[in-house]
Amino acid sequence: MSLIHATGEVARAKIVARVTTGRMMPAMSCFDHLVVNQFLATEIDARALKSAFELGLVNWLQDRGATLLPELSHELGLNSVGLGALAGMLETNAVLVRSGDMVELTHEFTRALAFRDLLHTRIDFADCVWPDIHELFTPLLNDVQQFMARSRIFELFRYDRCFDVTPQNLEATRLWTRFTTCLTKYESAAVIAAVEMGNVETLIDLGGNTGEFALRICERLPRIRATVVDLPVVCELGREHIAGSAPLSQTSRIDFHPSDIRSGDLPTPADLVSFKSVLHDWPDRDAKLLIERAHSIVRPGGRIMIFERAPLDLRERRVTYAMAPDLVFLHFLRPPELYLEALAALGFVSIDYQRIELEIGFHLIVARRPA
Ligand SMILES: C[S@@+](CC[C@H](N)C(=O)[O-])C[C@H]1O[C@@H](n2cnc3c(N)ncnc32)[C@H](O)[C@@H]1O
Repeated sequence: MSLIHATGEVARAKIVARVTTGRMMPAMSCFDHLVVNQFLATEIDARALKSAFELGLVNWLQDRGATLLPELSHELGLNSVGLGALAGMLETNAVLVRSGDMVELTHEFTRALAFRDLLHTRIDFADCVWPDIHELFTPLLNDVQQFMARSRIFELFRYDRCFDVTPQNLEATRLWTRFTTCLTKYESAAVIAAVEMGNVETLIDLGGNTGEFALRICERLPRIRATVVDLPVVCELGREHIAGSAPLSQTSRIDFHPSDIRSGDLPTPADLVSFKSVLHDWPDRDAKLLIERAHSIVRPGGRIMIFERAPLDLRERRVTYAMAPDLVFLHFLRPPELYLEALAALGFVSIDYQRIELEIGFHLIVARRPA
């Protein structure tokens, strides 16, 4: 854990710092989904796995258990040489275990299949950014403006296409909200476990995307009513997503408020106001402005919550294929000090900082507005 050097305003705010790590707490269910990452270490691991899904191999072995390779080849209509190569790669990656010609899924991979949507999302998101890493690695490291101008990933995340609700903008935006929604489904569990929300009745999630974070919170805490603020196209997709994902008892507690969080109107103050993976998108000045705007809608005595990816520490871990999307946002991930100092300067108190280790480190900051 990188210790916060509590100085100046930040020191006066009495920050409490601690660390929570998925790797050290395997029994906690909010970290169980991390099992998928071990099968996505290299591109070829991801290719083999995606093909195993596409060819029906995973479903077959999940449904019917251990099967002889010749039988698999016959039943699924698979080329026997290709199947042999695929089985070899899957065995090396601990997806399969093999005895003679008999193959079956490993116990660990069967565990990972409980998070099948996340496996697919991680593969598809990494596939989406991999051409940028392949073609533009030097600009990624050394000339971020050039990287942004030429990369496909920044063409995908085009917030300027989220203002006018048109069929084209809805389709373009759906391509990336699919990724953010699935990642948030799993990331939110660690936040919900780490933050006491028992006395929260109203939540505003700023840049709340398709409402997935709000939905997960509402699922766990039946007293909460949530308002998701995001751009109009994203809110439109969010209404659709929420209506299709939860019973009316939960969906009716989530409202969408289409607005520009920099300058548009914001909902009336709430007990808890959150930014999840939003502030890193913005330069320092805008990030501070957004925190100021959030301050204005935290009711006196209420709290603000910030959950953000921390800078990558690549001395600690080898970059895996699954981490490709984190790598392309390398320059945008900041240490927590800017957030902590901005909160202290606005008069927030009881500023609590935790570092949460998921597939990479995250900052979780919660602070109270004095009553
Ligand atoms: C990186 S995504 C994170 C989304 C979500 N909080 C999550 O963790 O999945 C940033 C979000 O900020 C929203 N956003 C970007 N600019 C915005 C603006 N000016 N006003 C409102 N929302 C904005 C995007 O549409 C997107 O949903």
